[in-house]
Amino acid sequence: MSIRKIDELNLEHKRVFIRVDFNVPISGGKVSDTTRIDAALPTIRYALEHRARVILASHLGRPKGKVNPEYSMIPVGQVLGEKLGVEVLVPDYPVGDAAFKLSRDVKAGSQVVLLENLRFDPGETAGDESFAEKLAELADVYVNDAFGTAHRSHASTYTMVKHFEERGAGFLLAREVEFFEKLLTSPPRPFVGILGGAKVSDKIGVIRNLLGLVDKLVIGGAMANTFLAARGVPMGASKVEEERFALCRELLDIADKKGVEILLPVDLLASDSVSATSYETVEEVPAGMMALDIGPATRELFAKALEGSGAVFWNGPMGVFENPVFAEGTLAVGRAVAAHAGMSVVGGGDSAAAVKKLGLADSISHISTGGGASLAMMEGSPLPGVVALMD
Ligand code: 3PG
Repeated sequence: MSIRKIDELNLEHKRVFIRVDFNVPISGGKVSDTTRIDAALPTIRYALEHRARVILASHLGRPKGKVNPEYSMIPVGQVLGEKLGVEVLVPDYPVGDAAFKLSRDVKAGSQVVLLENLRFDPGETAGDESFAEKLAELADVYVNDAFGTAHRSHASTYTMVKHFEERGAGFLLAREVEFFEKLLTSPPRPFVGILGGAKVSDKIGVIRNLLGLVDKLVIGGAMANTFLAARGVPMGASKVEEERFALCRELLDIADKKGVEILLPVDLLASDSVSATSYETVEEVPAGMMALDIGPATRELFAKALEGSGAVFWNGPMGVFENPVFAEGTLAVGRAVAAHAGMSVVGGGDSAAAVKKLGLADSISHISTGGGASLAMMEGSPLPGVVALMD
């Protein structure tokens, strides 16, 4: 089974529906981070240059199936118009007469239609057949470039796709999948995984799958607290998931049997609140205090773990990154990932923000635009948005 790319599809004068992930942060009615818009531009430009009648569609936030101006695509349309230098037409509902008329009349090469937030209709997240049919009526060709949403089987990412013989992946989706497949099937070795973030429970599937793939697994962030506590390290008032102690021990045991080296923090920055301005560096967390970042010895240990490795995958912060006092662990890992000479893949969210903040994005082989989607890939789960494109 194979997937065609947009450059293998016949676009000329066709109505081309491009599912993009424009789920971008909005602040004061304006887009505050255009990364996801920028990432989709090559596909949109390609379609415009090939005289397609372009219909873009995305969700924004979680408006729960109701029209809500707070989640309107209009601010996205403004950015898009400036970046593409074409007129962007936004009908007031994702399907219906206005959307249909615009998708029929849009001028190839000089205008694009940006549908209103798909999640204004409850049929989108429900993967509803009749909503999918209405979306499919708007176009002749289907392209998915929304990697960030490819783990959702929604109407626009999954249900509507079967209505199109002419379908394929945009450049962004194709590039994302290529990087993750390389890591999953033939990673340059040694392959090191770095996981952080709040909860072990969010990443059980990823840890299990990584244990069959990596040579070393580095674990930091609040999820490391649970591993440390399960090993008997006093963790004071730190966030720990007691109900996951047995699982942590089982995972450590699997790693041992597979010969995967697990690296956990050897020191921590501890304080009494996430908004604290001072801390103590500790190996065991005293009563009443909580671990809020990895310590200096751990920063060094984790950076050393990457030396000489062929590939690294990183997802999740090492501490309470939002507070600059506890951001250093995450930034140190970001520096080490960027300095590493092999293949580096950073999966979405805070880890991507950290390398960008450091100005080191250009030193990373691939920064994914999808948080949940990149974790689903690394779990080894097929992404519905990708499966739907297969011929
Ligand atoms: C994301 O930001 O991770 C994607 O756009 C998916 O959004 P969702 O988690 O609301 O489905």
